[in-house]
Amino acid sequence: MKINNTSLSKNDEGKKVTLYGWVNKKRNLGGLVFIDLRDRSGIIQLVIHPDSDFYKIASSLKSESVIKVCGVVNLRETPNKNLVTGEIEVNVESLEVLNEAADLPFDLNNVTALEDTRLKYRYLDLRREELKNNIVTRHKIVQSAREYLNSLDFLEIETPILCKSTPEGARDYLVPSRVNKGEFYALPQSPQLLKQLLMASGMERYYQIARCFRDEDLRADRQPEFTQIDMEMSFVSEEDVMEVTEGLLKKVFKDVKGLDIKTPFERMTYTNAINLYGSDKPDTRFEMLISDISDLFVNTDFKVFKDVLDNGGIINAIVVKGGASKYSRKDIDKLQEFVKAYGAKALAFLKYNDEITGSIVKFVDERIINKLNLKNDDLVLIIGDKKKIVKTALGALRVKIAKEMNLIDESKFNFLWVTDFPMFEYSEEEGRYLACHHPFTLPQDVNALDDREHAKARAYDIVLNGYEAGGGSLRIHDPKVQEKVLEELGFTKEEANERFGFLINALNYGTPPHGGLAIGLERLCMIICGTDNIRDVIAFPKTASASDLMMEAPDYVDKSQLDDLNIDLKKGD
Ligand code: AMO
Repeated sequence: MKINNTSLSKNDEGKKVTLYGWVNKKRNLGGLVFIDLRDRSGIIQLVIHPDSDFYKIASSLKSESVIKVCGVVNLRETPNKNLVTGEIEVNVESLEVLNEAADLPFDLNNVTALEDTRLKYRYLDLRREELKNNIVTRHKIVQSAREYLNSLDFLEIETPILCKSTPEGARDYLVPSRVNKGEFYALPQSPQLLKQLLMASGMERYYQIARCFRDEDLRADRQPEFTQIDMEMSFVSEEDVMEVTEGLLKKVFKDVKGLDIKTPFERMTYTNAINLYGSDKPDTRFEMLISDISDLFVNTDFKVFKDVLDNGGIINAIVVKGGASKYSRKDIDKLQEFVKAYGAKALAFLKYNDEITGSIVKFVDERIINKLNLKNDDLVLIIGDKKKIVKTALGALRVKIAKEMNLIDESKFNFLWVTDFPMFEYSEEEGRYLACHHPFTLPQDVNALDDREHAKARAYDIVLNGYEAGGGSLRIHDPKVQEKVLEELGFTKEEANERFGFLINALNYGTPPHGGLAIGLERLCMIICGTDNIRDVIAFPKTASASDLMMEAPDYVDKSQLDDLNIDLKKGD
């Protein structure tokens, strides 16, 4: 078995060793050839003397070629403190080139290449220290989570990848069946129903490092296939699920980062999160909370705000400390463009320096100073519109400004439970109510389900530094309640049976009360690795247009394959 480069130290002086690895760097100095030999563990220096019969081969070795060497460990004259093996080097006595590398498409030691080039040659990119470390961290997170859940008597159970299409929010990835022509499997958006059925099976505590597939618009923290640390437990309350999750995260942070995180985590209701932070995943590492200043405009002459209030809208503001001198008129115009992307029509502003100036100065008075507790050099940014637009736009603006003004302490890990989510949310796009979490979530009050605007769920999200790191809920275990929720979601009895009959059936045969949660492994790993790009923590990720540039997937298939599946492509596809 190969030994790790970094397993050697000055204690091995004089020892004869065989090493394998990649040529990381090569230098010719004073007739000697020095090679930094890299393996997964790290780098060790090799020395090749001019009188060795492989000297010529060594001199012409290309970067990233794979070699095998035998040699003797020596102490270095001038140790390199930056290397784990910096006190030693290996005097090479034989060298074999196992695979000579061609000219590289990009320099692995100085990455300026476009991400697309790096994705095409992902196996090369993964050789870089930074990406390799991310993959190692991901491995450690998974192992730590497994250890924790095993210690609590959870069973790791795999569930199928070829499933039935049961809409859960995103679009499904479909797989045509050859045997059952015209029928399709769907790849699971999560193992939600299956883990619930495992509770009906009496498994009591389940977990899975589960692959999930969602055909949705991608973002910096979203991939079409991703992994969850997925859990489900029988006979539990919210408190139990939260305690298990907190324990898991505590162990992961200790094992992977050596950090002691404080539990129990802070909690905030969904309503407060939206009102104060404009987001259901608030970043609590900085303040700049949203204030409702609608009352200051009740009798306003400002027609725009008057109309907003008359139409049931609100007027809210954020105060940027030190923002008055930092943000010029031109900068504020740019912020206005930014909030327009969130549906806001405009962004009003005020600056305070002993007196108020700004775009709507004519329409405010001294009351705003007290209301917002204004101090000199404060910038006030104001939006009046429908509640959803105001909150979302100011929530996003708050984060943007915090980044621009360096207000975020990147060394902090702020965990937060967001609780009391609504059961339903109205989708303007689909013109109907959808489940806020998923249709199997237990309502807080079964008798108040008809009031879809206000019905609350026994659902909770775990938020970390402004990311939704995980989400879960208690589930419905009463078939009547399940049918009622599906009815509120607009499913007829037949549709509900057609789609979810297998779950509803199981609820009739002794299903225990149960609940659970899933942590987004990549999100957790991103935060731990300090990257804001989800691709950095996935070995073979997809681009924003859901392609794998290395495999060139998706791809066309042979006509015969389509014929087997009885599929005709539409003209032009
Ligand atoms: P949910 O849909 O909230 O819940 O997903 C759980 C967590 O998975 C992560 N996540 C993603 N990560 C990367 N790319 C994506 N496209 C993506 N979508 C979600 C997030 C999210 O919080 N079955 C339920 C869990 C439960 O109720 O137990 C579920 O899937 O971090």
